[in-house]
Amino acid sequence: MNAGCHGGVARAWPPNAPRCPATIRARNPWAAPYTRAVTDPVPPAARGRFITIEGPEGAGKTTQAARLEATLRDRGIPVRGTREPGGTALGERIRALLLAPSATPIDPLADALLFNAARRQLVEEVIEPSLVAGTTVICARFADSTRAYQGYGGGLPLAELEALEEIATDGLQPDLTLLLDLPVEIGLGRKAPDDRTRFETGFDLAFHRRVRNGFLAMAVAEPGRFVVVDATAHADAVAERIARAVGHLFVDDRSAAGEPNRHAVRIHP
Ligand code: TMP
Repeated sequence: MNAGCHGGVARAWPPNAPRCPATIRARNPWAAPYTRAVTDPVPPAARGRFITIEGPEGAGKTTQAARLEATLRDRGIPVRGTREPGGTALGERIRALLLAPSATPIDPLADALLFNAARRQLVEEVIEPSLVAGTTVICARFADSTRAYQGYGGGLPLAELEALEEIATDGLQPDLTLLLDLPVEIGLGRKAPDDRTRFETGFDLAFHRRVRNGFLAMAVAEPGRFVVVDATAHADAVAERIARAVGHLFVDDRSAAGEPNRHAVRIHP
């Protein structure tokens, strides 16, 4: 992954660097004696957080994404909500193509290429510029959905999908992925008949079970990035759990910059 391009939140205050006055530090926490090399990642305080919300059908991603966006905004955190597929003019057109019922079966690789085309445009047009500008991005679905649906569900090799993802995203990885998990029967049962896409009407229960299990396998493989949330719980309880998980994301850079952790206090939904 291209870690140099997307510094994430891992960077801490330079070891042994003396503290400088707060006013200077506020403007440039990386002030002398530590000199930033041009190749250094962007200081963590300057970069927004990238949060994705994933899960099988009917997990409540749209509702929870909107609630989280409102919560962060209320806390004074610059935030931008978006979704996949979609989020740009091109992406929304690709979304319409992908979700419409099809008279003939669509090859999973054709699906994966189209999802990644929409993803590329979203990363370039919305996600990366927002993160660079210090805005936190909340995205309902991202590359894990392609692995879950076209990989675990559709049977495409994960390595092939990861190669496509790397090209589409330049290696951009979420800082946090909230996996809203629930049994597929419950999720599919929540969908109104007029809200059903090709993925609900054209794929059987076994496919959706493989998708759910795929998400859970990814969460087990990357425990540092994923937080699994029980999406059968009441929406308020889900929002509370999400707020707790997201609160941790905003701790590190404040303490690293020697400032009080304004956002480390509990974020209430
Ligand atoms: P949704 O945004 O309403 O959940 O609908 C998007 C549908 O597209 C959903 O059924 C999952 C599916 N999907 C994939 O199969 N692969 C992907 O990469 C993404 C982003 C979505």
